[in-house]
Amino acid sequence: MSRARTNPPADGPAAGPSAHWSRISQRWDQVGPPLRPASQDLLAYERALRRAPERTGGTRGLVLGVTAELMGLPWGDGAALIAVDRSQGMIEALWPGAHAVRAEWTRLPIEDGSIEIVLCDGGLHLLDFPGGQARMLAEVARVLVSGGVAAMRLFVPRRDRERVSAVLNDLLGGRISDLNVLKVRLAMAMQRDGETGVRLGDVWDRLQDAAPDLDALASGLGWTGGHVHAIDTYRGCEDRYHFIGIEELDSLLRDRRIPLSVESVESPTYPLGERFPTITLRRV
Ligand SMILES: C[S@@+](CC[C@H](N)C(=O)[O-])C[C@H]1O[C@@H](n2cnc3c(N)ncnc32)[C@H](O)[C@@H]1O
Repeated sequence: MSRARTNPPADGPAAGPSAHWSRISQRWDQVGPPLRPASQDLLAYERALRRAPERTGGTRGLVLGVTAELMGLPWGDGAALIAVDRSQGMIEALWPGAHAVRAEWTRLPIEDGSIEIVLCDGGLHLLDFPGGQARMLAEVARVLVSGGVAAMRLFVPRRDRERVSAVLNDLLGGRISDLNVLKVRLAMAMQRDGETGVRLGDVWDRLQDAAPDLDALASGLGWTGGHVHAIDTYRGCEDRYHFIGIEELDSLLRDRRIPLSVESVESPTYPLGERFPTITLRRV
């Protein structure tokens, strides 16, 4: 898309110290649902795409992140798709040969009112709450045309926070299917509130206390080769996740007068699906 302006990556956290996503990009094949979208989630995005305003000449879509699965949606003839991500490593690994810009979601290098649909899979909680998430949502509203749609899969913690001990008991009892589920359950259980969030390095430390030998844990649980070491990117990592509920998101939009309104919330039926709803917002 020729509308993209340059947002110099050397300015701000795009060039910051966290190499978390760059390290994950080398292990992306070991990451799976629910951290990546499952087929039901893709169907929810497809429904949102059908609700986006029509445009002669093709839909202009913006993906926040480089979730490769979203490239395969039925974008339609003439569609122009752009991805924005702060990590060069992730862009090169997951969005090769397609149009991506390295920039912050809180400062999108995209013109006002120039996009029919924005998609973001499991991205909102990566920003601090409320400030970073409000800035990202305000940017989404700014770049959307009037009546445009934003569909985002959220990572929502249980309202009655799960106990860390319950997660670890389930882990050691063989009741957690894989590391993708463990990562998100443990991180959500450790988070006291969305504002404080949870430091990824602390998640690694907690798992290390419970299961010092990850290879022994994986073989005891029948988890297949190497995938347990995808958690190594959390070791000593200062990044924090800030999980919030739909009500908090709704209040944020209203309190900050961000012109997006919640149009639908769809929860998938896979295990823990209630924690991974796709929310559709409309630019008002
Ligand atoms: C779209 S999210 C998906 C995360 C995935 N569902 C998971 O939890 O493993 C991941 C991407 O977001 C990017 N990212 C995180 N925070 C960002 C920000 N503030 N601005 C731009 N990109 C960001 C990362 O570089 C990474 O490529």
